[in-house]
Amino acid sequence: MNDEYLAEFEEENGYLNFASVGPASRSARRAACELHDEIARGGGSAVGILVPAYEEARAVIARGLGVEDGFATSVPTTSSGIMQIAFGLVGSGGNVVVPAHEFPANRYPWLRAEAVGGPQVRVVEVPDRRVTPAALADAIDADTRLVAVSLVDYMTGFRADVDAIADAAGDALVLVDGIQGLGAVATGLGRADVFVAGGQKWLRAGFSTGVMGVSARALERLAPTLTGWWSVEHKDGFEIPPPHRPLATADRFLEGSPNLPGAVAAAAALTVVETGGIAAVEAAVLERSGAVLEIARSVGADVIAPWASDRERAGIVTFRIPGVDAVSAVAGLADSGFVVSERNGWIRVSPHATTPLDVIDAFGDALRDQVRNA
Ligand SMILES: Cc1ncc(COP(=O)(O)O)c(C=O)c1O
Repeated sequence: MNDEYLAEFEEENGYLNFASVGPASRSARRAACELHDEIARGGGSAVGILVPAYEEARAVIARGLGVEDGFATSVPTTSSGIMQIAFGLVGSGGNVVVPAHEFPANRYPWLRAEAVGGPQVRVVEVPDRRVTPAALADAIDADTRLVAVSLVDYMTGFRADVDAIADAAGDALVLVDGIQGLGAVATGLGRADVFVAGGQKWLRAGFSTGVMGVSARALERLAPTLTGWWSVEHKDGFEIPPPHRPLATADRFLEGSPNLPGAVAAAAALTVVETGGIAAVEAAVLERSGAVLEIARSVGADVIAPWASDRERAGIVTFRIPGVDAVSAVAGLADSGFVVSERNGWIRVSPHATTPLDVIDAFGDALRDQVRNA
């Protein structure tokens, strides 16, 4: 990775937990702080600061997601973006298809919307966690309004082929929860209709820095169920009683004033990714997670590896070691300076492009110690 990219980060080397939280870059933190400072000085109208700063950030977000300005917006979290889409389908009838093992952020919105008359939720069991067109095909029919998948599975690291899923979805919209990939692997809206990701993990933008890109047909089909005062035409025409017409752009998915510090932090974080170059970042992430995979196999671990090639994986490696308690091992690794997660009895390791390769070697030594001492 180039020096400019590396200089953005200052986490401890043994931090291997980006699938949980990605310590934010200097630029992302600075962007949010500088904006707070500017508003705090109270020199002019906060709205006069907000609107141009938001528009600038939104343009960077659009570029980062590979969409035109007008098709991108900021969201506080992955969940809030998905909620917007789920409630936008209330009244459309039909069904929504979602794998059973999705992270709950991509389950609750569909259930909540279903409870108030939204599409019926079709939960698809995918025992091998390979979310492929074939795995979803039987559940998709002419009444399917939307198929919702993760770009990268939070548990196994399986990376879905979103374009192929979009083909299989036919006329249904496709929503991608991209939080476990954005900032680590090359991605964007592509052929999907909604790409939504919190910025607190691989993007390294901090909390409340989500981004969302949508397609033209998503804008056409989704009702503005949760559209608020900011997201309508003539929003400042307070003398004209609501409802005003919703914006034609993705900003119709804002419930109120934009989350400005979050949007500028997300834009700064996406700019940092551009500085490193996403191809280089992705290669570095795959090299490091590949090294973790080798280490896990070398200690006899049972690795959940649903991928058939490197194109089907990203930064996450999850395993368990026969005879080794995952909770104790994760605690022991933490004592040796390595931060990883325990998930349902499994150990999840998730290095980023900034993780030095010799630290992965040292992690291997620490893991071997855990096995020896178990
Ligand atoms: C796949 C996935 N989606 C979403 C989230 C988080 O959702 P939110 O940004 O709404 O907190 C996580 C992890 O926290 C996740 O792993």
